[in-house]
Amino acid sequence: MIVTCENCRTRFHLDDRIVDEQTKPVVRVRCSLCRHEFSQQVVGATLDQNIPDAMPGIGRRAVIAVCNQKGGVAKTSTCLNLGVSFALMGKKTLLIDFDVQSNLSASLGLHEQPSLYEVIYDRTHSIETVMQKTRFDNLWILPGNSRMALLTQRHGNTERYQHLLADRLGSIRDSFEILLIDTPPSVEFFTLNALVACDLAVIPTQCEYFSYQGAEKIRRIIEAINRNGNRNIDYRILMTMYDSSRLTSRVLVSKIRGRYGRRAFQTVIEMDEKMTESQVVRTPLIYHDKNARAAKQYVTLAKELLGAE
Ligand SMILES: Nc1ncnc2c1ncn2[C@@H]1O[C@H](COP(=O)(O)OP(=O)(O)OP(=O)(O)O)[C@@H](O)[C@H]1O
Ligand SMILES: [Mg+2]
Repeated sequence: MIVTCENCRTRFHLDDRIVDEQTKPVVRVRCSLCRHEFSQQVVGATLDQNIPDAMPGIGRRAVIAVCNQKGGVAKTSTCLNLGVSFALMGKKTLLIDFDVQSNLSASLGLHEQPSLYEVIYDRTHSIETVMQKTRFDNLWILPGNSRMALLTQRHGNTERYQHLLADRLGSIRDSFEILLIDTPPSVEFFTLNALVACDLAVIPTQCEYFSYQGAEKIRRIIEAINRNGNRNIDYRILMTMYDSSRLTSRVLVSKIRGRYGRRAFQTVIEMDEKMTESQVVRTPLIYHDKNARAAKQYVTLAKELLGAE
């Protein structure tokens, strides 16, 4: 059954499995894009529940890895803006730039600062001295730099190489409520380490086919880590750069919801030009323009993750 949101006019396909032909002629539904709640007349069939309920929240503390093998799907943008949203909600948050590109650090105006390379490789710094408080309340960063590329060379073949990050985070893990790890567009050393270190992987997926395939790869790696290491790492899919005017966007949303069910976030991040603007001025979107659509959606996403909505 097709439902059109009366607020943002986005059209949704409602899974037939949750349509009950027996009961009420009018039901309440909530738009998974703009979260508007409205009554829906059901002709010949009735919904007995809303779009699948949100998953339970992540609890008080969590290490979240943001990854997808595909490049340019908004991993860094998600790390930054989700981190800022948690911090605004009073959560002490650490952003970890675990990508040689160091775009997360650059988006906060930091360039070639000491990173985990200096902690792990030449041991001139401790992790505590490398961490920096950002100019935003409750928000810290562990910067990245280009020298981190050498970590792969030196540790890529050692036993337990995929536990390097988890081991180093041990001493600071409890000082923060939320740790968010940004990763490169690959499934090798950096992403593997982030996945082993995390409780939850958020997999941003642009509403197009190849980033959907990249998400599948991350899912399979998580399942292997869980199987082999007796772990319980969870994963969730975040649809990003959604453009309701594009058929491919709409089809991919429906395909992803069909494939991942409740593991696909209810919140979808829309394409928003303000995002690119905010990067130019090296400022998180919500501080650049608090009314920007994507800024509000990242706040909603943080609430969804915390189970606050
Ligand atoms: N909601 C959005 N609306 C419009 N543009 C966006 C949005 N989110 C991200 N972008 C833009 O998409 C580009 C890629 O974003 P980002 O750097 O976050 O992706 P990434 O997955 O981290 O890339 P990489 O794989 O290279 O690390 C950037 O130019 C960013 O400004
Ligand atoms: Mg990135």
